[in-house]
Amino acid sequence: MKSKKFLLGIIVCLFFQMQSIAQFNAAEMSDLINKQFQFASKQLKVLESHVPDSMMPKTLNTKTGIVESSKTNWWCSGFFPASLLYVYEHTNDQEILRIAKKRLALQEPMKHYTGNHDLGFMMFNPFGNAYRLFKDPKDKATIDTAAMSLITRYRPQIKSIQSWNKNKNFNCPVIIDNMMNLELLMWVSQNGGDPKFREIAINHANSTITNHYRSDYSAFHVLDYDLETGKLIAGKNHQGYNDASAWSRGQAWGFYGFVMMYRFTKDQRYLDHARNIAKFLLNHPNMPKDYILYWDFNVPEIPNTLRDASAAAILASGLLELSQFTKGAESKNYINVSASIINTLSSTSYFATVGDNGGFLLKHSVGHLPGNSEVDVPLTYADYYYLEAMHRFKNWILKK
Ligand code: GLY
Repeated sequence: MKSKKFLLGIIVCLFFQMQSIAQFNAAEMSDLINKQFQFASKQLKVLESHVPDSMMPKTLNTKTGIVESSKTNWWCSGFFPASLLYVYEHTNDQEILRIAKKRLALQEPMKHYTGNHDLGFMMFNPFGNAYRLFKDPKDKATIDTAAMSLITRYRPQIKSIQSWNKNKNFNCPVIIDNMMNLELLMWVSQNGGDPKFREIAINHANSTITNHYRSDYSAFHVLDYDLETGKLIAGKNHQGYNDASAWSRGQAWGFYGFVMMYRFTKDQRYLDHARNIAKFLLNHPNMPKDYILYWDFNVPEIPNTLRDASAAAILASGLLELSQFTKGAESKNYINVSASIINTLSSTSYFATVGDNGGFLLKHSVGHLPGNSEVDVPLTYADYYYLEAMHRFKNWILKK
């Protein structure tokens, strides 16, 4: 029986061609995660002290040392309150809760925003977590309204949600990141809302499989559609190295998004797609041994180019969810890679010391390198997905 299991393990490993990675140590992971949440409760108070009450944190200008903030319509505005909620949940720090509530109140009017597709990031991450913790019907109403706002951007002729408005570069851009915003729609339909939100999300996910993904399971960042004809004009990589490359955070968004879609639908097609993306990512010759992704897989200067901590944090969190839907050696591999990413991001190479790094947790993310914007800096979403990965690791892996 044992040798049969062993053989099966080898077959699964060969099928997924997984690199072997060390097994995590449960006691050490538990200590680390508790320590990191305690640290985060101190550090996010430092971040709070740098940001005006009417704004949200965005990044740190590493040259001037000044924390940059954004208005609440910036796509990342929801990550700070959402991060505070994870930290409150794991520390019971009442001051963190007070700051979270203050920041949620600031973000709440954005439920009516229709200027981009980012309502999931902006509203579901903070208010989804708030509702999960406190079950306040007001938070649910906020989420429901945000879903209504998001579907104003659905374009039936391309069966997709339009990401950005028409601009000098694109007619009707749909970006891979949008897979993440579908969670808002799926959740609303599953929690008493109209089934149309779910139908739109499924249509969007299916169009993404058909049009965004290449045969090797890498994805374009942006698809440009012609809304008159419904035809696809071009696949582009606005934030990536070039149009044929695999921009790392985009790959991580798509991966996480399809795992999430499987959670809601149990549609085997989404699970298969997510596993194939994982295979592309984890076995890529340009995936570093510590799994902290270079900012794009196809930069000719690799290994002499920047890492993107945000992509690694999103990947770590997504892998933990995929580990719950897979079995045996495959599942264990996803958990071990995730543990490795959490460990590396928690090391002094990536993790700040108290008071340092403007109050952000992680250093070394890349926002938009070709646009020379937010290059090798802290970013709110890197911190959020890092906290989420630790939350999932503690609740799903260590509590088993
Ligand atoms: N456009 C969202 C991102 O930079 O990932």
